Amino acid sequence: MDVEQVKKEAGIAAVQFIESGMRVGLGTGSTVKHTVIEIGRAMREDGLDVIGVPTSIRTERLAIEHGIPLSTVTQLGGLDLVIDGADEFDPNFQLIKGGGAALLREKIVAQASKRMIVVADNRKRVDRLGAFPLPVEITPFEWEDTLKRISIVCGVPAHLRMLQSMDDDDAPLVTDNGNLIVDAGMGNPFIDNPRFIESQLLHLAGVVEVGLFIDMCDTVVLASQTGVNILQRSDN
Ligand code: A5P
Repeated sequence: MDVEQVKKEAGIAAVQFIESGMRVGLGTGSTVKHTVIEIGRAMREDGLDVIGVPTSIRTERLAIEHGIPLSTVTQLGGLDLVIDGADEFDPNFQLIKGGGAALLREKIVAQASKRMIVVADNRKRVDRLGAFPLPVEITPFEWEDTLKRISIVCGVPAHLRMLQSMDDDDAPLVTDNGNLIVDAGMGNPFIDNPRFIESQLLHLAGVVEVGLFIDMCDTVVLASQTGVNILQRSDN
């Protein structure tokens, strides 16, 4: 089974947690996109009746394409659950997110949800966070100075995320909120205390949000070559 198929299995399996009448946060990324597609299918074919809140413009478009009615956290007064991907999760289910640059909306939606379910393949499971560079959303104003301070707080080099377009004059990636993304880290796990790093970074003016999701996720739908496992935080 290739990675795409493993992601698809995780994404589809997570729909078992959704019941008719639920208000559901729809995450962003290549794993949870399969959840969104499956919700659309279940609404058309199985009579599932839900309302979604997307975490990015990309997911909003995908949900509309698949016929899922959409609303906002404010209009719904909160959400029953959010299903989203993750870049890493540790044994305490603390997460790094933001590889898809949607971390701010993802965190706002997660914070409004009674429950967060992560869909992931087993490459995302780590003992210590930070091999995946930590995404931090920052304001464009004086971004170089904010980047320097993020690097000092994290104790690792940090880089401005670029669009990675094919042309020579590459440009910074701009988020759905008009901000920039800094990625901190060089491929080695460096986060011993996620809560401390998060609070130190949030103290910096210019930092809008940090891609650490602390005590938010209680369930991981984990797919591997051998099948899908449902992990609960209390199991660890
Ligand atoms: C989006 O900003 C991210 O938080 C994604 O949820 C995360 O990067 C996981 O994405 P994949 O499922 O594509 O790996």
